[in-house]
Amino acid sequence: MSDSLAYELDRAHVFHSWSAQGSLNPFVIAGAEGVEVWDEEGTRYLDFSSQLVNINIGHGHPKVVKAIRDQAALLPTVAPAHANLARGEAAKRILAKAGGHFGKVFFTNGGADANENAMRMARITTGRDKILTQYRSYHGNTGAAVVATGDWRRVPNEFARGHVHFFGPFAYRSEFWSDSPGQESERALHHLERIIQVEGPASIAAILIEGVPGTAGVLVPPPGYLGGVRELADKYGILLIIDEVMSGFGRTGDWFAHQNTTVNPDAVVPDLITFAKGVNSGYVPTGGVIISESIANVFEDQVFPGGLTYSGHPLAMASIVASIDAMEEEKIVQNAARIGEKVLGPGLHELAAKHPMIGEVRGLGVFWALDLVQDAATREPVAAATVGILKGELMKRGLLPFVADNRIHVVPPCTVSDAVVKKALAIYDEAFTVVEAV
Ligand SMILES: Cc1ncc(COP(=O)(O)O)c(C=O)c1O
Repeated sequence: MSDSLAYELDRAHVFHSWSAQGSLNPFVIAGAEGVEVWDEEGTRYLDFSSQLVNINIGHGHPKVVKAIRDQAALLPTVAPAHANLARGEAAKRILAKAGGHFGKVFFTNGGADANENAMRMARITTGRDKILTQYRSYHGNTGAAVVATGDWRRVPNEFARGHVHFFGPFAYRSEFWSDSPGQESERALHHLERIIQVEGPASIAAILIEGVPGTAGVLVPPPGYLGGVRELADKYGILLIIDEVMSGFGRTGDWFAHQNTTVNPDAVVPDLITFAKGVNSGYVPTGGVIISESIANVFEDQVFPGGLTYSGHPLAMASIVASIDAMEEEKIVQNAARIGEKVLGPGLHELAAKHPMIGEVRGLGVFWALDLVQDAATREPVAAATVGILKGELMKRGLLPFVADNRIHVVPPCTVSDAVVKKALAIYDEAFTVVEAV
């Protein structure tokens, strides 16, 4: 790669996210289509990362690309204060997917600022300050969103006030000494209620949780948990914000994770939903907050103290409209659900039965994690070096993986076919065989 101009320019001039810059060795992607990306030599890779778990509709979907081109020719940008047809059409479609409880959409530039604004709305609406979030979470990299985040990225960035963290359920690595998903749910809810009580319910504006915590390891909540969180929120007058930035728009096999009957059998509804990524597969940066009728009404007479130059940017809006329409016409969300249930889920469980390094398989739709362990009994995570070798073996065989800590997240586009999933499963199988022999 060192003779590549793209690589040279990147290393000379580009400052990368979340990294010490000196040791980086970025993979150069020259183009992409559907579930594949290719490098400058034309070598193709199955994109089982969906980049940052955002290319739900696949790369280069022609209807979305055309909509962006057409909108660029018509009106490439407009201030947020003006009305614009593309923006109204996008909001209407998003609300139709969210359900009747919701009234308005506020558009942002991505997921982090969606969470910033949802927290702001909750604080103003309740007149309370504190936001409760899980330790195993990622909510974005801006002032409050990164402090709402639970993982290591919060610690060097802790400059916002009013954030309190708690442990959510994770039966495989329980903080609660539980021995069943039911017990895990019950104990995690007890823990959350105690946090609310000791923090003082009258100081808590909102509980903010991911529909399915994604970056933290695809932690599908046990039955009853989401319903229990809603009950606690109602009991103490706290709002519930569900962050669907990664879990929304098809990833779980439903439009939103909280509409999935496995995730939320009690069918509880949040007060605010944040979204980004899959809403337009990131072809143009965008995100937003879906606001309940009652919270939207708070701002009928009261000024909302927030805004962005590119809120509801027409190129993003046109891509949202085309993306949601194409996902509907081509039954892409249904495909994600079917693939998860019939092909990818069973295939990953088969892989785990064969490879002792895979301690747990969890997920649904096209949203899966393989939790890799040194020892199945102790569940001690594999070393980072092992995950690095595995990544190399997968890349050598033409699969671009998503790697996080001791895990491989298996997160292809929602458009992935049975044949491609089978090809990918064979690649994972080979790579695990090689790594286990080392
Ligand atoms: C659940 C969740 N929330 C928020 C974000 C932040 O989104 P963005 O990077 O668009 O700001 C992410 C990004 O990965 C996410 O996974």
